[in-house]
Amino acid sequence: MSERQRRKLDHVRLAVAGPGARAGGAGWEDVHLVHRSLPELATHEIDLRTSICGVPLARPVMINAMTGGAPGVTAINRDLAAAAAELGLAMAVGSQTAGLREPEVVESYRVVRRVNPRGVILANLGSDATPEQARAAVEMVEADLLQLHLNAPQELRMREGDRDFRGRLERIARIVQELSVPVVVKECGFGVSRETARQLYEAGVRAIDVSGRGGTNFVWIEDRRAGVVEGDPGLEGWGLPAACALAEVAALDLSGLELIASGGIRHGTDAAKALALGARAVAVAGPVLARQQREGAAGVRAYLEGLLADLQTACLLCGARDLAALQRQPVVITGLVGEWCRLRGVD
Ligand code: FNR
Repeated sequence: MSERQRRKLDHVRLAVAGPGARAGGAGWEDVHLVHRSLPELATHEIDLRTSICGVPLARPVMINAMTGGAPGVTAINRDLAAAAAELGLAMAVGSQTAGLREPEVVESYRVVRRVNPRGVILANLGSDATPEQARAAVEMVEADLLQLHLNAPQELRMREGDRDFRGRLERIARIVQELSVPVVVKECGFGVSRETARQLYEAGVRAIDVSGRGGTNFVWIEDRRAGVVEGDPGLEGWGLPAACALAEVAALDLSGLELIASGGIRHGTDAAKALALGARAVAVAGPVLARQQREGAAGVRAYLEGLLADLQTACLLCGARDLAALQRQPVVITGLVGEWCRLRGVD
């Protein structure tokens, strides 16, 4: 087994074992929706259809990028894709660098399209990709969109990781210009700040997944892989809490910029809060994987069905029949997230 393939398996094992799979700290608890005792709505009237860069999504919840790239993870992607197909959810595959370099692992990605021939699928590569690699990744899974991930903290904690992050924005801009499908730039649990969002916007990016801190924690994961017993708490807690990242990027109000929220989204109410703050969709990774590992595709489906039902309940209790109505709801922000917004000048 190659080192890359072993790393893919380590990530699955440690993501499920780690505190990141359970931890709070994303800040969703500081975001409060205001209850409406007279919602004047029936559950069947609630319609949460949305779109990202013109690609329609039947529901505003996605399975975020996780895996692919080792023969041992094909079954994971098969289960995730089966649940995504049954529930009509978009799904991203994990980074396809391995698939572009090692033909024997291509099936671990392609399985997602085979199991879900009509669903919305996102390809995934790092921000060092070339337009040719981006096109090949999209073709590999017949993707509707491409995610380019930013993960500098993770790379720096990986012994075999990147050390030079120059020229990434330029590469992203070229891919956005040259690719025929829309590009979503995403973090990996460290949060996109408004400064980064502005840079991306100026480079032509029109969809960002803020993927903040508080859920799966890749500094913690890489430290454990490297045998670090007690890591630097400042680095193992690095990044913008997900709710802070979303609040400050949403407040930029850049015309045509669409936001996806991820990082520590665990429950339907977390999703409702993120959508109310301005996200067009939310994405979930760690807990979906945990359920797949314990209970296979049925567990993934049960978890996501519960999350979708609770999201619908939260919408009804706010009197919001659709996403536009949810985004007009008053939102009260307290605690760390409130203080963050105040100090960063976010209304
Ligand atoms: C990830 N994530 C990820 N992201 C990405 O863009 N490319 C990738 O290859 C991976 N790989 C990966 C593996 C595993 C096992 C997990 C759990 C996650 C990051 C993921 O998409 C997401 O941004 C973060 O996990 C934060 O969301 P959660 O897990 O808190 O919901």
